[in-house]
Amino acid sequence: MAQQLNPGPLAGKVALVTGASRGIGAAAAIRLAQGGAAVVVNYLQNKAAAQKVLDQVTSAGAPGMLFQADVTQRTQVESMVRAASEKLGAVNILVNNAYFPFQVSALHEISWDSFHQAIEHELSAFYHCVQACLPAMKEKKSGRIIVVSTRLAQQPLPRMGAYAAAKSALESMANTMAIELGPLGIAVNVVTPAFTLTDASMIMPEAFRERVKETRPLKKHLYPEDVAGAIAFLAGDEASMMTGSHILITGGSHLQL
Ligand SMILES: NC(=O)c1ccc[n+]([C@@H]2O[C@H](COP(=O)([O-])OP(=O)(O)OC[C@H]3O[C@@H](n4cnc5c(N)ncnc54)[C@H](OP(=O)(O)O)[C@@H]3O)[C@@H](O)[C@H]2O)c1
Repeated sequence: MAQQLNPGPLAGKVALVTGASRGIGAAAAIRLAQGGAAVVVNYLQNKAAAQKVLDQVTSAGAPGMLFQADVTQRTQVESMVRAASEKLGAVNILVNNAYFPFQVSALHEISWDSFHQAIEHELSAFYHCVQACLPAMKEKKSGRIIVVSTRLAQQPLPRMGAYAAAKSALESMANTMAIELGPLGIAVNVVTPAFTLTDASMIMPEAFRERVKETRPLKKHLYPEDVAGAIAFLAGDEASMMTGSHILITGGSHLQL
């Protein structure tokens, strides 16, 4: 097993963060490592960016590894979880985070293929990752599954309907799993960020980004690190009686129209 130098509260845990080369996943990987967890930094294309995240994981004194896998593909996910188990130990904390670009379009104008793809990517990734991590979590009678959703699942915006529908279904899966897996010692929780400054959110124009900031009660941009703290909390002992919970990270925007 890889060397552990960080004696933090998550020492001895192994976290798999999907889509950890950039954005919220990268911040979550680094934050979990700062807590002492060993971290699998999953990525799809950006190996150099993923390597920089891994460098920060190891700088935090936590073991880590890179793994390139398309999380919508079952066999690739299985290989990743097997490799993680061999190098770092069985995965205890699954952060289902990867972002799948979708067609920005009104629901009555989007093709069925594009709509179906958005749903398929979001749900298959979660399904395959849970399936691959479950045997070891069941054996240890403990595990944390943390799902990154979006505020758009409850507070829709025009032309984002395929993404919102996919995330709504993802939240529904998480809720059901919380009931089904609770008796096995496995908690399933959701973090729900509002608009956060990452590569994914750059599809929106600057005027939109500024307007979002100004209409938020806290009057600040949301950054990946703001979401990573809630993910680390849900991974730790202080959240031991939380399952089926949804943490909103919005700067207060959910209170307003
Ligand atoms: N940004 C926001 O405003 C916002 C708001 C609410 C919720 N969210 C949610 O937060 C999560 C992260 O979003 P983000 O904004 O941080 O995204 P991002 O900065 O665009 O990063 C996307 C990440 O997903 C990875 N990825 C893409 N397709 C993948 C695949 N098939 N298999 C494995 N990894 C894959 C990318 O890997 P490569 O770098 O290798 O391509 C990258 O690491 C998503 O679930 C998103 O829905 C975001």
